[in-house]
Amino acid sequence: MRVIIEKDALSVARIAARVVAQLVRARPQCVLGLATGSTPVATYQELIRMNREEGLSFARVTTFNLDEYVGLAPNHPQSYRAFMQRELFDHIDIPHEHTHVPDGRALDLEGSCERYEALIQQLGGIDLQVLGIGSDGHIAFNEPGSSLGSRTRLKSLTGETVRDNARFFGTEADVPKLAITMGVGTILESRKCLLLATGESKSRAIRDTIEGPITAQVTASALQLHRDVVVVLDEAAASRLDRRSYYAEVEQAQRAIEAGNSPS
Ligand code: F6R
Repeated sequence: MRVIIEKDALSVARIAARVVAQLVRARPQCVLGLATGSTPVATYQELIRMNREEGLSFARVTTFNLDEYVGLAPNHPQSYRAFMQRELFDHIDIPHEHTHVPDGRALDLEGSCERYEALIQQLGGIDLQVLGIGSDGHIAFNEPGSSLGSRTRLKSLTGETVRDNARFFGTEADVPKLAITMGVGTILESRKCLLLATGESKSRAIRDTIEGPITAQVTASALQLHRDVVVVLDEAAASRLDRRSYYAEVEQAQRAIEAGNSPS
């Protein structure tokens, strides 16, 4: 894992947007996996700015979102489809038909999960998966105890996730208790993963993910098995990592190599 620790959430967003932009410039027809939630919003704002001001085009990009609440129509303000339209898609030049979010209102929910997986495969797989992390260590809606080989499926949300997400709905009672989510196995098949975390409330989950054992109790820890993961954290989210100074040294050396200098 490449662990990058930045001073604040804004710098996290700049680094994350740069990783996405590098791929989109190198491979304009790439497939991006996207996340919702508070964490990636600043990254999406930076990508919108790059689209407007720096000619970063998404015209040939395809996207797949990680998850969607069951029962919410795409135009429900708290649906993840509506979130993505509001926070990113409506502001960049991506064709609507290139954007995919699981259908939380499908009549055949299980069949629609299988079709989502098949479509990802058909379009060549995900090149870069953007991820946030829940305070319980979940990625997408793979709650503690999810199989590390899981595929896109229905998942019941834990009380902790329902409480965390109540801030978007007003009350806990309004938060759907069921979601469609890509599985941990689906995520691990992405060619590259970009995990973002900001704030003290994520510090325990981040420590468990990076320095703890690989366990289904912290589904993000499965990323330790992936060969190309970049984790971008602010200082608060990194605050419980034991090996912080080592990650900073490695990062300094890595940047020197990328700049064409040999690390001292
Ligand atoms: C959302 C998702 C979730 C969030 C996580 C953190 O698509 O997959 O795993 O990334 O719950 O949410 P925030 O960023 O709101 O703290």
